[in-house]
Amino acid sequence: MMPAIPQPAFYILKCEQSAPPGMPKPSCVKADDPESQELFMHLAQSLMMKGIVGTVSPIKTGCLNRCALGPVMLVEPGHTMYVGLTKEKIDKIIDEHIIGGNVVSEYVVPEAMWGEPIEPASIAK
Ligand code: FES
Repeated sequence: MMPAIPQPAFYILKCEQSAPPGMPKPSCVKADDPESQELFMHLAQSLMMKGIVGTVSPIKTGCLNRCALGPVMLVEPGHTMYVGLTKEKIDKIIDEHIIGGNVVSEYVVPEAMWGEPIEPASIAK
């Protein structure tokens, strides 16, 4: 039976953490960078305009721990971390990855800043 509300094909977790002006730590939403403040809205509107917001859920999150590479967002499934985002890059990610099925590798976090996850079972007490 078809569920009333099918599960999304993708969740896109966009870091919306901001730091106060003068704070030395970098953040994904910057007080002196208007584009960084508009990226979540741009993501949500682009998904709506493409007609896919019903199956691709944009989610605002706090810090994803790659602050120096921000603005960042994580695409699930796939565990794909995109960094250094702009509106243009988000549009390309929607077209090529979310709709086209191909990860946009030039915007993916460098391997040295990501690597393989640690399996919880290997460290659980
Ligand atoms: S502030 Fe966005 S990853 Fe830390």
